Amino acid sequence: MKSSAIAHSNIALIKYWGRSKDHDPNLNIPLNDTVSMTKYGLPDGIHLQTQTTIEFSSEYDKDMVIVEGQEVTGRHFERIIRVIDHLRAMATIDYKFKMMSQNDFPTQAGLASSASAFAALTVAAADALGSKFSRKELSKIARLGSGSAARSIYGGFVYCYAGNSHDTSFAEQICSHDCFDINTVIAIVDTGKKDITSDEGHYLAHTSPFNKIRIHKSQQQAKEIRKLILDNDFDKVGQIAEANCLYMHTVMMTSQPSLFYWQPTTLSIIKAIQKLRREGLPCYFTVDAGPNVHCLCQSNHMHELQKLIKQIEGVKKTILVKPADDAYVTKEHLF
Ligand code: PMV
Repeated sequence: MKSSAIAHSNIALIKYWGRSKDHDPNLNIPLNDTVSMTKYGLPDGIHLQTQTTIEFSSEYDKDMVIVEGQEVTGRHFERIIRVIDHLRAMATIDYKFKMMSQNDFPTQAGLASSASAFAALTVAAADALGSKFSRKELSKIARLGSGSAARSIYGGFVYCYAGNSHDTSFAEQICSHDCFDINTVIAIVDTGKKDITSDEGHYLAHTSPFNKIRIHKSQQQAKEIRKLILDNDFDKVGQIAEANCLYMHTVMMTSQPSLFYWQPTTLSIIKAIQKLRREGLPCYFTVDAGPNVHCLCQSNHMHELQKLIKQIEGVKKTILVKPADDAYVTKEHLF
């Protein structure tokens, strides 16, 4: 009962911040619908993916999780157990497991490592237990680990319904990786671990006076952007993604205590993107719960934009990204 899977991280064009307080916190129901692009890193060895191997066996006497060579305990372990317990209950199997997982990019640095991690875990564990689930079902289970992971089950462009129960909170694909011409230049400002993870930050959203308006606007923007992706309207998608990112950071910055994920270089990049746009280069920015900036552009401008972003003081590295494919089972095991 062993299987391995690979899933890619994603960047939310319409983001969530905060979980519903009206439901069991273990269900991880996001406060609003979200829209994302699943990411395939173009450089060799940085495809922005997580590879996970899991084995269930009567030989194991405890559940064991090893991430990046380190045994995992505490909160992260509990989130993994939540996903696995759901799958074990559905398969009516109570074997203990060993799991190993490896990212090809820095974890907890605002590059959505929890998205690819919980998507890969869900796909590998369901396969190891012999469960045949639809992608929709897998997305619900991945959400138990992390809200953004529900989206990384799919490739391309993804819509995630916040819903109001386990059954109504799931993701679906808007269209596949080649349906919309958009690329990303990720400007890496810092690869260190964040002081406050998104898992912790979600609890603070409710303390911002701008939380309700962000939820209301995001709900509208999610529906709008879905249509604009299908219309291949890059500029309008970029405008809405940028606005939505600023709504989320406004909530973060105005929560109590205030969460400030940006660094001075983050702002330099944002300013540079705005200037480049005024000068005629169609590009937009979005920033997750970290200092790194995703610079959105179309494929014909990707290399030019990368060159310009690299010149900004404080940018440590850039990663070119195109839309990725679905999460999948692989025969390459980590142990
Ligand atoms: O799913 P989590 O707990 O990693 O939270 C994701 C939060 C953001 O990346 C900031 C937004 C999003 O929708 O991906």
